[in-house]
Amino acid sequence: DTATFSALLNGNRAIPVVTFRGVEDAVPVGQALIAGGVGVIEVTLRTAAGLEALRRLRTECPGLVLGAGTILDKAQAEAAVAAGARFLVSPGHTAKLVDCAKSIGVPWMLGATSLSEVMDLREHGFLVQKFFPAEPMGGIATLKAIGSVLPDVKFCPTGGIAADKAHTYLALPNVIAVGGSWFVPAAPVDPATITAAAHHAAATLNKGA
Ligand code: 3PG
Repeated sequence: DTATFSALLNGNRAIPVVTFRGVEDAVPVGQALIAGGVGVIEVTLRTAAGLEALRRLRTECPGLVLGAGTILDKAQAEAAVAAGARFLVSPGHTAKLVDCAKSIGVPWMLGATSLSEVMDLREHGFLVQKFFPAEPMGGIATLKAIGSVLPDVKFCPTGGIAADKAHTYLALPNVIAVGGSWFVPAAPVDPATITAAAHHAAATLNKGA
């Protein structure tokens, strides 16, 4: 639920969504985020490096709350948790994923973008949902409209959100965090750039900032 997620995020309201091309990038990226004051990362399982990246981050960057994203089935979910993920994220939801999310034992943000989808997940007890792809799906205006009828459902929007828009999303009462890939530009990894983006996000977006 919302309180569990908020406790896990521990004041982090901007979640870097990172797709690793190579496992060797995991620790430098993790360290660069921590150096900038960001304490959370969502590693997508869109590449083969994802699971091993999680394992390395668990060992080498214990200061990061690890999440795994783009979870499409139960096997991926279980592998991600075994690799150290403390929360899971999916771009949408299916009946199978809903079943799995009820029993896996870690928070799981399933995705919804329409009122019917949001209501479906809400009926199953999921009060924190991913809203993806946020900008193409109407962004702030859509989230405001959903919030006017279902204020108890909170969202983590991602998709097309960069540093300049993140604070506008976070100003909505039904947004608990925003995610995006803007922190970590495509390879090669440049720790100084990542730390600067992380620092900017942490300083302007996190709780208490
Ligand atoms: C995700 O998986 O949430 C997206 O890749 C993040 O979207 P963005 O790349 O547009 O920030």
